Amino acid sequence: MHQEVAEPVAPPTGDSDETKLARLSAAIDQYGSAKSGLIQVLHLAQTIYGYLPPHVITLIAARMNLPLSEVAGVVTFYSFFSTVPRGKHMIRVCLGTACYIRGGKQLVDHLKETLGVPVGGVTEDLKFSCDVARCIGACGLAPAVMVDDVVHKQVTPAKLDAIRAAY
Ligand code: FES
Repeated sequence: MHQEVAEPVAPPTGDSDETKLARLSAAIDQYGSAKSGLIQVLHLAQTIYGYLPPHVITLIAARMNLPLSEVAGVVTFYSFFSTVPRGKHMIRVCLGTACYIRGGKQLVDHLKETLGVPVGGVTEDLKFSCDVARCIGACGLAPAVMVDDVVHKQVTPAKLDAIRAAY
């Protein structure tokens, strides 16, 4: 099961690698090997790095004396955690029934083609992440696309290009 947590992923900070490591170490020191603090440590690590790269997951497991499989399992369980970098802006095309019927699939294909990334991917310049959603509450004006927390309705491929260009 994949747990939904409705929080956006923070963009990576501009700190140096050393500063990031120092911040992460301080967080781990605060929680020690307390298993109950794992989610908070992972949360902070993701805030620091923008996502959870494998070496960070390994480091957290080692420093907290937890099996790597257990830490990786928690990362996988919560959809809030990401093991791939996220873009500055998240574009989600709705593929709920109403949007799918009215062209949502074509929008996904168009977005993948124009961004040059698959669903779940991020552009090379880390500007956009591409994802799909299941109904974002705008069925009456489908198809809908959400960019960060803004819902755009009756979107066409051309309109999607214009929306994207505004960011
Ligand atoms: S199905 Fe897309 S907004 Fe509801």
